[in-house]
Amino acid sequence: MALRAVLVGFGHALPERVVENADFEAPIDIHGTTVSLETNDAWIKSRTGIERRHIAAEGQHTSDLATDAALAALKDAGVEAESIDAIIVATSTPDLTFPSAATMVQNKLGMTGGFAFDIQAVCAGFAFAMANANALIVSGQVKRALVIGAETFSRIMDWTDRGTCVLFGDGAGAVVLEAQDQSGTASDRGILATELNSDGRYKDILYVDGGVSTNSTGALRMQGKEVFRHAVEKLAGSAKTSLQDAGLTTDDIDWIVPHQANLRILKSTADKLSVPMDQVVVTVQDHGNTSAASIPLALSVARADGRLKDGQVVVTGAIGGGLAWGSVVFRL
Ligand code: UT7
Repeated sequence: MALRAVLVGFGHALPERVVENADFEAPIDIHGTTVSLETNDAWIKSRTGIERRHIAAEGQHTSDLATDAALAALKDAGVEAESIDAIIVATSTPDLTFPSAATMVQNKLGMTGGFAFDIQAVCAGFAFAMANANALIVSGQVKRALVIGAETFSRIMDWTDRGTCVLFGDGAGAVVLEAQDQSGTASDRGILATELNSDGRYKDILYVDGGVSTNSTGALRMQGKEVFRHAVEKLAGSAKTSLQDAGLTTDDIDWIVPHQANLRILKSTADKLSVPMDQVVVTVQDHGNTSAASIPLALSVARADGRLKDGQVVVTGAIGGGLAWGSVVFRL
């Protein structure tokens, strides 16, 4: 027998405003500033697979999106907020320096019990949050957890840098995890393995050039080609390791639900794992790169449209600034 963290509810939230690639071909207002880029739909689509992204409204913050995603996940799970013991929000764009976005969500959900905290592992944040929630559940400390990825990356873009600002979007996704007694074998439902890594030597290829302790806000900087190279190699490697830890092989995969940064990365990673693209959930065309929100967003979309079914084996994996990367294998 073993305690497993079973995924029992999924939800997501997206800002109402949608900016199409072609909208960047003329000057456009983003957060009160006129953005003028020399770019076009054909370049963005062919180099990244992105077609559109959602941009938060004025006054709409990360905790608002996170709360809406959480409410949808609670509804999907059929459980009340009061039954949640822990909330973990993966984000690099919290509303405030503190308190955490997670405690804001806790308050907005009307909860007065349990505990809540943020995790910051940038685009890999959801994998890190799932691994932490899993550890709390299998150790018996938590019975039910809300794991949320939520971001408003549009607020940390350099809107004069066409090489980065067209890539990212805003949104949130959430899952409800529940402790359930299972057999302790690879045929169990729930999280079967997690694998986390980071390597601070690569801090300069993807970072924000400002922050609280440097008294500035800063904007995202990325050496895209370098990150791309690491992404394919490290995502495939992490997925293989966590599958092995779960007692499974790539043949057992029903779905890969990867971090949605670039369709070319998704294709290369699937190729390295010998998994066909029709077993990869792709949402990057509609959301762009939403950092820590991208995996739970994709999970929620694919669950709602009927692709992800109970009993199926799912592998998720992500990489981002740090570098930090990891993967999670679970059976629905
Ligand atoms: O979520 C965290 C993880 N992040 C990632 O995984 C991102 C990984 N990297 C990538 O996805 C790709 O490297 C990018 C999409 C960022 C860039 O694609 P690339 O094929 O590596 O292009 P590049 O940066 O080498 O740029 C090629 C050309 C350049 O022009 P020159 O120097 O060849 O004349 C750029 O100036 O494309 C130009 N370019 C653009 N052109 C039109 C860059 N951005 C744009 C743009 N519109 N928006």
